[in-house]
Amino acid sequence: MRIDVLTIFPDYLAPLGLSLIGKAREQGLLDVRVHDLRGHTTDRHRTVDDTPYGGGPGMVMKPEPWGAALDEVVAGGGGAVPRLVVPGPGGMPFTQAMARELAAEEWLTFACGRYEGIDERVYEDAATRMRVSVVSLGDYVLNGGEVAVLAMVEAIARLLPGVLGNAESLVEESHEDGLLEYPVYTKPPVWRGLEVPPVLLSGNHGAIKRWRHQQRLLRTAARRPDMVAALDPAAPHARDSEVMGERVEKSAGEE
Ligand code: 6GU
Repeated sequence: MRIDVLTIFPDYLAPLGLSLIGKAREQGLLDVRVHDLRGHTTDRHRTVDDTPYGGGPGMVMKPEPWGAALDEVVAGGGGAVPRLVVPGPGGMPFTQAMARELAAEEWLTFACGRYEGIDERVYEDAATRMRVSVVSLGDYVLNGGEVAVLAMVEAIARLLPGVLGNAESLVEESHEDGLLEYPVYTKPPVWRGLEVPPVLLSGNHGAIKRWRHQQRLLRTAARRPDMVAALDPAAPHARDSEVMGERVEKSAGEE
């Protein structure tokens, strides 16, 4: 997969050279190119922002550098066209399902806005050439799209074939099937007087499986009642969530 990132703070994306993403890049599984938007300004001060038409607080990112930067990225694509992702608090929610959808693309370009946002015509112009999605990490405000891109690229890249060592670890994860993950433990068996749940030391794999599933239900009900409500009634867990009605409220009170 190829990923281009346009930003006025290229250094913010330095972590994309580390850890699993860094290794995926070295292995040629991922081609990440970070571009400085200021390289597409033409004035002496390399200006990327200006005051908003109609008044109001803050500054708006000027359209010209964005137009030139996107033109250059697309021109280097040999006829292919990227899907454009613009991080912003006004976007549609970035979910595991969206990460999977984006991981299936050949080429993504992320456009990191700052200030009060990017001139709306940039989206309109880009949409004549490519699919454009404004995507938000959640209901809070960041100063710019860079940190959001780090999060999104990590969520996407780990879904690419060969990036994670163990494909099994993708299966039983939080958000892959509508439930949160079960709690995990490792040695020692007692730490600061706290015991590992005995079932995990029992060697009874059926009992362990049932316990873990129950823990996922309890944890999801306690922490994310919205996810319990959203369970598909036809899904395998739906009956469990009904069965556990009483227990759910009790555990919510305990945590
Ligand atoms: Cl994706 N960008 C910005 N700037 N703020 C955010 C966000 C994204 N998601 C939540 N807040």
